[in-house]
Parts: sequence; C-alpha cells; structure tokens
Amino acid sequence: MKPEGHRWFAATYALQTRFTERGRMLEARRRLLAGLRGDVLEIGAGTGANFAHYPPEARVIAIEPDPHMLRRAQATLAALPARNIDVRLAPAEHLPFDDASFDAAVTTLVLCSVGDLAQSLAELRRVLRPGGELRFMEHVRGEGALVRVQSLAQPVWGWCAAGCHLDRRIEDALRAAGFEISSLKHSKLAPWLPMIRGVATAPSPAAADATPPGG
Ligand SMILES: C[S@@+](CC[C@H](N)C(=O)[O-])C[C@H]1O[C@@H](n2cnc3c(N)ncnc32)[C@H](O)[C@@H]1O
Repeated sequence: MKPEGHRWFAATYALQTRFTERGRMLEARRRLLAGLRGDVLEIGAGTGANFAHYPPEARVIAIEPDPHMLRRAQATLAALPARNIDVRLAPAEHLPFDDASFDAAVTTLVLCSVGDLAQSLAELRRVLRPGGELRFMEHVRGEGALVRVQSLAQPVWGWCAAGCHLDRRIEDALRAAGFEISSLKHSKLAPWLPMIRGVATAPSPAAADATPPGG
C-alpha cells in the first residue's frame, strides 16, 4: 500500500458500492457479523460497508491503511446512529495492538488486497485471544478454466483495484496461519469471483502446539 493511498480506487469503490451494497450482499454482511460481541477488530474497513451491521454488543476498532478510504469510513460512521466503532489508520501487517486483545476479528474483501497475506494473518492470530473467531468473507482463486481467466485479467484488475489479487487461496492461507476453519460456505461475488465466507478460530497456543499421540 502506497503511504499516500489510492484516491481513485477509494472514489470508484465508493461509487461501486452504491450499486452492490444491497440485497444478497447486505444480507451476507449482516449474517457474517450477527452475534459478535466484545472487542472486535476489523481490518481494511474500506468505506465502512460493514459498520451498519455490527450488533450493539460489539466494541469495534476498524483499521484502514488508505487515508482516502479512511475518510470515507469516517463519513459512513458519522452518518450512522451512534455506534461503538473507532476507525484508525493502520495496515494489517503491523497491527498496533497487544497480543490476545480482541475477542473476534473481521475481514471482508480485504485479504485479496493486503501486501503480505501470511504476515497479516499472523498478526490477526496474534491479536485474537485463544478461541477468538475470525469472521471472513473473501473472494478467492477459481478452479478449472476460471484460473486461466483470472490470471489473464490479473494485470489490469490489479492495477484498477489497487493491488487486489484474483487468485489467492485464502482457505489454505488461513490454515497455514494456524487457524481452524469451523464454518465455510461457497458462493460467487460475480461469475469470475468465487467467494468464501465463514468462521476460523484461533486455537490456544497449547492446543496448536500439541503433538498428537504417536505423532
Ligand atoms: C475491496 S476493499 C474492501 C473494503 C471493505 N472491507 C469492504 O468489505 O467493502 C479492500 C480494502 O483493503 C484495504 N487494504 C489494502 N491493503 C491493506 C493492508 N495492508 N492492510 C489493511 N487493509 C488493506 C484497502 O485500502 C481497501 O480499503
């Protein structure tokens, strides 16, 4: 992420969401965030599309590294009835929070864009308390012929969408970072954008380090 951010992407994303943030997408966000409570971290909050859907029991810190997006997120927040949401400038790769300081974390359409996916997931795992939930909704690499379409489109797509990657294997990356996936649903954001949403859990260090009997 360039320190000065992506002014045009922030503007086009805000415009795009006026058309896409309705119907199934709104319902998907609402379901993803339902039941969250306690201290919740959202990374890459963008224009703040999730803000309206947090339950009142959640105390949310939403980070966003792009100053243009951050301004839009602040405007979204200001237009909502009072919410327990605090928006801050920070990248997912370097979270300015103590270990185990959040009960839950949220990523929506952001793991495609972070510069260092493994580092971002390691940071999320670090700041989540053991047993804490990571609720995710992300577009992912396709299968079969779609892989070819995605790799052909990637150079232009990545340029237009501020470094978004069409072909990330998010499910594998979550597991590699030590998360356990406890719920997973597959759908499509668009015909060329397979999407996964679900819940991953940060196991306690003891459980993660345990060697299985005979292992
Ligand atoms: C497609 S937008 C999604 C925004 C929002 N999460 C949503 O669901 O609408 C991707 C967001 O990821 C943010 N982003 C890019 N690199 C990031 C990083 N290293 N850490 C955190 N967020 C990042 C971008 O600035 C942008 O706001």
